[in-house]
This record gives sequence, C-alpha cells and structure tokens, in this order.
Amino acid sequence: AIKFALLLILAYLIGSFPTGVLVGKLFYHKDIREYGSHNIGTTNTFRVLGPKAGTIVFLVDFFKGTLATSLPVIFHLGDHHYCLVFGAAAILGHAFSIFLKFRGGKAVATTAGFLLGYNVKFFGLCACFFIPLLLITSMVSMSSLISVILIFISSFFFHDSFLTIMSGVLVILIWWSHRTNIKRILNGSENLVPFGLYYWY
Ligand code: G3P
Repeated sequence: AIKFALLLILAYLIGSFPTGVLVGKLFYHKDIREYGSHNIGTTNTFRVLGPKAGTIVFLVDFFKGTLATSLPVIFHLGDHHYCLVFGAAAILGHAFSIFLKFRGGKAVATTAGFLLGYNVKFFGLCACFFIPLLLITSMVSMSSLISVILIFISSFFFHDSFLTIMSGVLVILIWWSHRTNIKRILNGSENLVPFGLYYWY
C-alpha cells in the first residue's frame, strides 16, 4: 500500500511538471500564462512561442501521461487497470499542478499520452478522431471537445468498464477546462490554427 501511495504521488508530480511555463520562462523570458489564450499547453505555446517550443511542450506533456500510466508496469504493481488510476493522477496533476497553485493546462496532450500508455489500439483510434477533426475545423479546442466524446462512446466497444468510467471523467474534465474556448466557439471568435479547411475557407 505504501508503494502504491508513493507511486501515485509520483504520478501526480510527473503530471504537475509545468512544461509550458518553464520552457517560456527559461528560453524565451516570457510567462506563457500572460499571452494568447493564457493556457500553458501545446496549442498556446505554438501560438505564442513558435513551433520549436510548441513541439517540445507537446512531447514532454504527452510523455508525462505515458510515463505515469506505465508506472504500475515498470514497478510490477497490481493489474493493468492500475494504469488508469496512475494516468488519471498525471492528468489531474497537469490540470491542477502543485507547482502552479493548483492551476494548469487543459489536459489534452497528457490525455493523449495516457491513452498511448494504456492501450495502443485505443490510442490509434482516438488519433483517427482527432487529426481529421483538426484538419477540418482548424480548432484544437473543438477537435479536443468532440474527440473526447467519441473516445467515451468508443470505449464501450473495448469491453473495459474502467476505461469507460475514466473516459467519462475525461469528458467532464476536458469540457470544463475548455469553458472559455466553448464561449469563443459559440461567438465565432475561437483561435484557428493556420491549416485545416475552416481556416482557408
Ligand atoms: O490543448 C488545449 C487546446 O484544446 C486549446 O488550447 O490555447 O487554444 O485554449 P488554447
């Protein structure tokens, strides 16, 4: 039980690692939270600091999810479903970081990393939702919001009730963390990425 508790704290701390804020402050002398959408994630880093910083933030935030999800495998702890709990701890860490006064990101990249760590096939399916949505809508937020619903629905086909519960929690978390994006989508002022059909239309 002690090993479980310690590793769970570790998963939360991994998720809490504030990549976007650190990359901005260390390499660009900018606090990403004061620019663009004020978010610390991949999308806003691309927007404010450019593709190099955006790629680094994406990879690290993504890998945080994969690493935390894999902790039970690495340390021979419990069955496969423990991975869900550790993935959830990392995602919550990212969204409510101990290093950022319990504020944080919108959980998209870390969720993607978690999906890869938990089930490669399910991750592949989810990528098949997200990428076309992004190429059509030109909105990372809209693609994330729709994808997480499709993730929840498709989880039923994997006959893994724990995965379905986790996906349901992710719907709530991701829709909640995107509430300002939802307002912008509804009034037609959401930020677009410079590729995708909608941007050029
Ligand atoms: O990854 C978060 C994304 O869905 C939206 O980011 O910066 O446009 O609010 P942003």
